[in-house]
Amino acid sequence: MFIGDFHRGRRLRRTPSLREMVRETELRPADLIQGYFVVETADASFEKPIPSMPGQSQLSVETLVWRVGQAMDSGLKSVLLFGLPGKKDPVGSGAYADDGIVQKAVTRLKEAYPGLVVVTDVCLCEYTSHGHCGLLDGHGEVQNDPTLELLAKTALSHVRAGADIVAPSDMMDGRVGAIRTTLDEAGFSHIPVMSYAVKYSSAFYGPFREAADSAPAFGDRRGYQMDPANAREAMREAAADLAEGADILMVKPAMPYLDILRMLRDATDVPLAAYQVSGEYAMLKAAIANGWLDPKLAVLEALLGIKRAGADMIITYFAEEVLPWL
Ligand code: PBG
Repeated sequence: MFIGDFHRGRRLRRTPSLREMVRETELRPADLIQGYFVVETADASFEKPIPSMPGQSQLSVETLVWRVGQAMDSGLKSVLLFGLPGKKDPVGSGAYADDGIVQKAVTRLKEAYPGLVVVTDVCLCEYTSHGHCGLLDGHGEVQNDPTLELLAKTALSHVRAGADIVAPSDMMDGRVGAIRTTLDEAGFSHIPVMSYAVKYSSAFYGPFREAADSAPAFGDRRGYQMDPANAREAMREAAADLAEGADILMVKPAMPYLDILRMLRDATDVPLAAYQVSGEYAMLKAAIANGWLDPKLAVLEALLGIKRAGADMIITYFAEEVLPWL
């Protein structure tokens, strides 16, 4: 061996322009979907910071509209909405009420910004008094099939209010098909379904459950959300949702499941979404607040990693903050 007889990887890393020329992955504003929590309240200027998610708040419809407008000025193109209803009951009526909180927020957002992509989270857990994602039987077990009709009703009411995409996050079997059929029959065959196809039963949803007041009153979600140990099962979930008519598949959480994202990317051709969840946000924010991580570099690297693993779009609470950096 003589000097020079080895791979000279540094040749293409020498200057910023050279590095940019050979860069394989890029974050674009259109990739980012900001999640918001909208609350039923008589106080139009309501804004309540969420302690475990610094920078995020529960918002009234009007403060949401204002905040989204600000973010759109820095390039935000899409949002994902979660609702906190005025009252909860065992059957989650607030989720599918025509004047429900998400329905009102969607209507106002689309009035104000017709070009904004409004995605709605379709689930019952924020609306049920017991905090589970479906109807309970007498033994506290979540009933699959009776829940489907309510999920489909919820999705339809969101779409009637103007939602551009519905995103079921409940993990009941058959919900994509139930929603697809209901939307088609009501004349909404043009509205896509973004399925939380591969949603793990994760500890990283902790801050969200405080933000959305949706922690289960008893038990956990392991009977419907996926076991974090399983990868092959993710392929079965994805295949089932595609067969039922999902247009976009999601993997959630993102960072602990990048292998799953890559497997799906290699196995399917549909657009893939990844959800950088509340716990991922909280971890980064906590380390940044302590001065242990550089905010811009760490957040951009985390998001870039998710894209590189195969996500076409990323749901993230960092979207507002990151957009001015792109
Ligand atoms: C509703 C739902 C949850 C999240 C999104 N939709 C909570 C859960 O399943 O318990 C979590 C999002 C996050 O942690 O940011 N089912």
